[in-house]
Amino acid sequence: MGKCCVVPGCNEPGVAERLAVLLGCSIARVYRKRFPDGELYVRVEDGIGRDSTVLIVNTMYPRQDHSFVETLLLVDAVARMGAGKIIAIIPYIAYSRQDKVFMKGEPVSIEVLLRSLSVAGATHLVTVDIHNPSSLEHFSGWRYNLLVSDLLVEKSLEYLENPVVIAPDKGALERALHAARTLGLEYDYLVKKRDRVSGEVSLEPKEISVNGRDVVIVDDIISTGGTIALAAKKCLDSGAKRVVVAATHSLLISNALKKIVDAGVYKLITTNSIPLIARNDFIQVVDLSERIADTIKSIT
Ligand code: R5P
Repeated sequence: MGKCCVVPGCNEPGVAERLAVLLGCSIARVYRKRFPDGELYVRVEDGIGRDSTVLIVNTMYPRQDHSFVETLLLVDAVARMGAGKIIAIIPYIAYSRQDKVFMKGEPVSIEVLLRSLSVAGATHLVTVDIHNPSSLEHFSGWRYNLLVSDLLVEKSLEYLENPVVIAPDKGALERALHAARTLGLEYDYLVKKRDRVSGEVSLEPKEISVNGRDVVIVDDIISTGGTIALAAKKCLDSGAKRVVVAATHSLLISNALKKIVDAGVYKLITTNSIPLIARNDFIQVVDLSERIADTIKSIT
């Protein structure tokens, strides 16, 4: 890889420095301030070599809107400095669940985000376990969605014996499948119903052979914790011995963590795709840096 520079965003979840070391890149300093009216100002303070590779590392939780605007500004800034490849590394992309018009009058938010990144000048996009991988077609450059459910489920094997990998709904099946195939485990999924108006989630009974078995539940996002808590309860009610949750992006809004603990979950295994609100023995964090670095090496 030629001359490269990592530009960390305000929300960078602790992977920028490690990526710079793994890829032999320098780290740029970024000056930021707020104008009196609240608008954001950024300036990349170190020289970006003409035609060099620049990695903009940011993530979109918390402060989704702020982080999105900052990412666009950083991309534009380095493009104007003459960067060649501009690789946006955004482990968690916000607005990804609004990936279609569910009710008349709604936007397709993820399309707006991804098209904006392309227009600003990002030539490559690397993300982690985006809610719907086909959304990435809205980014016009090279893009890659890293699936990490195998890493998370592998970690769960420290606590579980020959677990069944369970997706809480059909939409998460690819994640369960990816982990189960990689690690030679059985998998299944639960049937979820969400009321689009009230947001309430319920699970329909499904024949799953978790009786007397350990279970690892795999999902992309934990937001309010409702989906995971219900899935865990369902598995434990069906006779599961121990339930571990493996989720890529742990937003853990409000009392989500308590809901998950109260549901009887043994451990939560997650990644550093976003800054975590809590660190304790219940939450185990798998570092994404090496997986991301390997992906970057394959395109530079
Ligand atoms: C939904 O389709 C996603 O994959 C997650 O299951 C969902 O976003 C989790 O949300 P919550 O934690 O609020 O139930």
